[in-house]
Amino acid sequence: MVRKYVFGCPFETEAVTEAITPETGTPEYGTILTEKGFLFTLALEGQDAVYGLGEANRGINKRGYVYVSNCTDDPEHTENKVSLYGAHNFIIVDRKGKDTFGMFFDYPSSIRFDIGYTKSEELTVSCEEADLYLYVITGENAYDIVKQFRRIIGRSYIPPKYAFGFGQSRWGYRNAEDFRHVAEEYRKHNIPIDMVYMDIDYMQDYKDFTVNQSFPDFKAFVDEMKEKKIHLIPIIDAGVKIEEGYDVYEEGVRENMFCKREDGTDFAAAVWPGLTHFPDMLNPEARRWFGRKYKILTDAGIDGFWNDMNEPAIFFSEEGMEEVKQFLKGYLEEGQDGNAEQEKGNPFQAFKLRGKINSLANSPEDYRRFYHNVNGKKVRHDKVHNLFGYNMTRAAGEAFGEITPGKRILMFSRSSYIGMHRYGGVWMGDNKSWWSHLLLNLKMLPSLNMCGFLYTGADLGGFGADTTEDLLLRWLALGVFTPLMRNHAALGTREQECYQFGRTNDFRHVIGVRYRLLPYLYSEFMKAALHDGMYFRPLAFDYTDDDMAREVEDQLLLGNEIMIAPVYTQNAGGRYVYLPEEMMFVKFLPDGTLHKEVLEKGHHYVKVALNEVPLFIRKGKAIPVVDAAQCVDEINMETKQMLGYEGAEYDLYEDDGVSTVE
Ligand code: NOJ
Repeated sequence: MVRKYVFGCPFETEAVTEAITPETGTPEYGTILTEKGFLFTLALEGQDAVYGLGEANRGINKRGYVYVSNCTDDPEHTENKVSLYGAHNFIIVDRKGKDTFGMFFDYPSSIRFDIGYTKSEELTVSCEEADLYLYVITGENAYDIVKQFRRIIGRSYIPPKYAFGFGQSRWGYRNAEDFRHVAEEYRKHNIPIDMVYMDIDYMQDYKDFTVNQSFPDFKAFVDEMKEKKIHLIPIIDAGVKIEEGYDVYEEGVRENMFCKREDGTDFAAAVWPGLTHFPDMLNPEARRWFGRKYKILTDAGIDGFWNDMNEPAIFFSEEGMEEVKQFLKGYLEEGQDGNAEQEKGNPFQAFKLRGKINSLANSPEDYRRFYHNVNGKKVRHDKVHNLFGYNMTRAAGEAFGEITPGKRILMFSRSSYIGMHRYGGVWMGDNKSWWSHLLLNLKMLPSLNMCGFLYTGADLGGFGADTTEDLLLRWLALGVFTPLMRNHAALGTREQECYQFGRTNDFRHVIGVRYRLLPYLYSEFMKAALHDGMYFRPLAFDYTDDDMAREVEDQLLLGNEIMIAPVYTQNAGGRYVYLPEEMMFVKFLPDGTLHKEVLEKGHHYVKVALNEVPLFIRKGKAIPVVDAAQCVDEINMETKQMLGYEGAEYDLYEDDGVSTVE
């Protein structure tokens, strides 16, 4: 049962697609105050768990910390961080022995979820303005609540089937030769691959919808890669470079497509290309205009994109830089304000200067400096900050319906809000080559699924910092199961393509397992998408009466048949697992054979070597497995065999993998 409550005058985020008649009165759970902003308070009991919040830090059970939905470009995902790139304001309060309910706070600006942080037995949700829709969902259990929520927000995005293959990315590939080289190395080493990602350097001077001079005939290059069965996936950034003669810029200025300052001039902020303007993604006309630009690349044969820097990330604004300049002047110039000596020598001033420079990026002040035109109404950006990335991806998603009708296009974004899940997936942004981030990746998966984001994954091997061979292998063994399976790394870090290490056979094997499982993974993804289900679930969602299962956060159920339990510690030769029922432990061994062993319900230590991929088949179930292939297109369904319990049936989902699904 879904109940909708209206507070004040909410902004229409269009996150919810189902028409629901609002209730009068207030929800039966907790208390709500609206005198000073909005404040929801709920008492928590010892064993209550709180799930949700999609792309957020820490555990699957969100209890014990504070999270702020405020889309932020912050590459340091340390434990103390409260905001990442997404804003997914859906929580489920699972009250042991009492009724469980979900809540979606449809509010487009910063909103704080204090889940037993300030007071361990209290949950509060607060935001500055009491203008929002609140949806309260009751149901049989947490999973039932997720399904109802997913029904009201509309069907999750479905990518083309090739996007379930493996992809290689790196910030730093510049020209045709670089991309060709990556493709050739993978093919030469027989490591399966379907996609090579193009980061910002493929563009001319970081200008969206351009390619640099190394691609004299881009379409021919796209075709050449397609012949090798490789899809090129270019990045698109939110900011449009300010440059005379650049048609996208000139057209945007002429037709008023950019976000404006209060005085009506186009707001300028520095990102990779230098100063840029932000297309007004909240203005339907500008959205259509920007979306249709993707045609420049789809006409060249491109069938996948990733949208970046769309929080939107700001390195500095002209105004912000001016303020720093003034401060610096005051600090350096003698005679300023009559006390230059004091200023010059004052360490606190120097400290302040450093702070000023650091706070130039993504400053809340800048987010108050520009405006959107929402159907004729001027709306200050900070009031709707969390909707920018969502609407950038929506711009593309809506345009694809016109420019590539009937065809699925791969699309995923860095920033997002609930509602964007209908237009694209998300990747988890700039993680690090840290073992702790492998685990964070695992924990974020079911939470994202709860909020509708099914097509997701993290930068395998880690984006920032230098990876190690063992970390990459272990991370890939998790990536085998995530719908988006992409190795991506930052400029200047150690090269981490799978052929850069000594153990090429092991990389080939681990990625090969992805292709062996692909019919199963694709089927389960499609079933989840078409039935508002979750591809990844915490154990607690299925084994509702099992107290131990409620505490397990490093194992996940995937689809209906399997459980995954990756190894995420360095130098470990295996790991402990908890089986909430009897299961068949399967390992894909590097010689192509399988290790199978039925394990009883309970605790076990399982050995998993660096080059093995483990999974667990639930009691009485079986999954299809095929032979490994070099790309999705070459998977031979005739090699299909069933793996698991004797006599179990499996319902395989099959389609052409290309056409949009009605
Ligand atoms: C930030 C993105 O998160 C990262 O993946 C990308 O490589 C850089 N921008 C450069 O485009």
